[in-house]
Amino acid sequence: MYAQPNSSDIRFFNSILGQDRVRSDADSLTAAASDMTEDFVFLPSVVVFPDSTLQVSQLMAHCHERCIPVTVRGAGTGLSGGALPVHGGIVLSTARMNARPTVDTQNMQVHVQPGVITQVLQECVEEHGLFYPPDPSSRGSSFIGGNLAESSGGPRAVKYGVTKDYVLNLEVVLADGRIMETGANVLKNATGYNLTQLMVGSEGTLAVITRITLRLIPLPTLRWTFLLPFPDAQKAVSAVAQIFSSGISPSALEFMEKEAIAYTLSNRPDLSFPAQNLSEAYLLIELDGFDEDELQRQTDRLLPVLEAYEPEDVWMATTAAETEGLWKVRRSIGEAVKSHSIYKEEDTVVPRYHLPELLRFVKQLGAEYGFQSVCYGHAGDGNLHVNILRSNLTEQQWQDDLPIAIRKLFIKVKELGGTLSGEHGIGWVQKPYMDVVCSPAQLEMMKGIKAVFDSRGILNPGKIFPD
Ligand code: LAC
Ligand code: ZN
Repeated sequence: MYAQPNSSDIRFFNSILGQDRVRSDADSLTAAASDMTEDFVFLPSVVVFPDSTLQVSQLMAHCHERCIPVTVRGAGTGLSGGALPVHGGIVLSTARMNARPTVDTQNMQVHVQPGVITQVLQECVEEHGLFYPPDPSSRGSSFIGGNLAESSGGPRAVKYGVTKDYVLNLEVVLADGRIMETGANVLKNATGYNLTQLMVGSEGTLAVITRITLRLIPLPTLRWTFLLPFPDAQKAVSAVAQIFSSGISPSALEFMEKEAIAYTLSNRPDLSFPAQNLSEAYLLIELDGFDEDELQRQTDRLLPVLEAYEPEDVWMATTAAETEGLWKVRRSIGEAVKSHSIYKEEDTVVPRYHLPELLRFVKQLGAEYGFQSVCYGHAGDGNLHVNILRSNLTEQQWQDDLPIAIRKLFIKVKELGGTLSGEHGIGWVQKPYMDVVCSPAQLEMMKGIKAVFDSRGILNPGKIFPD
């Protein structure tokens, strides 16, 4: 059904991009064949590197005409296989669409191309005292365009919201090459359907995002960071809902199991952690703001709430280096677990009060199916990353039994009022489970939208929808 690019297609790509931006050498194809998801490899036929909206438009018009699959790729840090070119075709890398962001200080907005690294964008707006909060752990390498495609979250989402909460307007190239704005650069917009939000989280299946307008907020000047070890993980996660019920709004509330820290410290000997003997579980809590007295009042309320759950200690970072050190450990967990063993990443999310029940169920399932899980994540959002390790499993357990266990996990998540993914997307690996949480009507509406935007199904084919 799909065409793969032939020599005449390649000549056309060369004519619009120049030869050095059209790659089909083994190294380029291999680099575009995988992302951070398990150990999948799907080779594309060619990788292209446009640097302008016009070039993207010309590429899309051609691929639409020829029915060539197009998988848009940011930095390849995704954890659901969104960037895997599972039907071959072309990978459209946004790496060259990385002009310096334009900060509009008067309107507190930033205009940015999709290939800009998220942390570069954040540092760029911070120079103006402004703040772009969404901070996926990969922010040092992931691209803002990829963050939009997945509606990425991160630790600060608990106070500030996720990527979608900052997107005001987009320029996109449609599957047939037309260039379109989705909205306007305004803080409120009641003008027809919200095409902007439809694009955010659409995982490269509806259009190619070529320009992004984000809203910004004032950059908090104070950040207080606490680390609390607990003798058992259930106690740690049980404290979470109570913190919010007590009127405290932490800017991060992260949960980490012992093994998550242990694998990180062994993978990254350069990192340090304020404990020699690791406890069973940790909460990493941050308060931020502009006023020291206000932070002290929040701390005075927070600590008694936590005491009731019997932490073994309360450790507060007192220097910027200590704070940074703790966050480096936290942000390095995903990669560290992967270097220990390939794993299946489940991005479960439930209403936060049900987190203890979810964690209990994960461990019970592990005992039943014989898998080891490393759990950590954004406890304040009820968003638990469940890493199911490949290490000690047989091929049959990994290929045949685990999907059954994962389906049971998602059925439980659904019962608890939750869903499949909080921030990593569906992509390639979660699509077999979409029916657990989406009704036939929901799936039909989603497929209808896909068909309107991409009648030939060339944009990131093979993703999101169950086969
Ligand atoms: C994190 C990524 C895996 O929270 O979402 O580290
Ligand atoms: Zn996360």
